[in-house]
Amino acid sequence: MAERTLVLVKPDGVQRGLVGEVITRLERRGLKLVGMKLMQVSDELARQHYGEHVDRPFFGGLVQFITSSPIVAMAWEANNAAEIVRSTMGQTNPANSPAGTIRGDLGIDIGRNLVHGSDSPESAEREVNLFFRPEELLSYERAMEPWIVE
Ligand code: RTP
Ligand code: MG
Repeated sequence: MAERTLVLVKPDGVQRGLVGEVITRLERRGLKLVGMKLMQVSDELARQHYGEHVDRPFFGGLVQFITSSPIVAMAWEANNAAEIVRSTMGQTNPANSPAGTIRGDLGIDIGRNLVHGSDSPESAEREVNLFFRPEELLSYERAMEPWIVE
């Protein structure tokens, strides 16, 4: 099976009506959507998800932000899915993100960077399993697959 990665449209993206925009960009790139839900992130899930940052000064604010309003969680599949999604998202700070990326085109502030994407295949596996139960992840064929991947 191809690699799966977690994408979150964060509260700012949902509030700004940019869910469709994010999905469109990932669909057009060629990734396959295999799981999706609108959800409210609990304090516990936020702390697990961002556990690597627990000692950073921005941790409290980050947890507060990600739990402040609904998000859209998605699992996307492709060979090298995590790396491909990260390049479509741009840099952590939208101010340093190139035009043509989600963060570079749609944001200006590091604390309002619209999307999350797993930073490695290992993180991706952990994070997909944190946000989705196995039965929420679907396997299916796309007729256009040979027109996307040789
Ligand atoms: P993410 O995990 O959300 O996809 O973002 P990322 O990998 O590009 O960045 P990461 O280093 O994992 O940081 C997680 C989130 O914390 C916020 N942050 N604020 N004020 C700051 O210096 C700072 N640094 C990071 C950002 O919202 C970032 O997305
Ligand atoms: Mg990260």
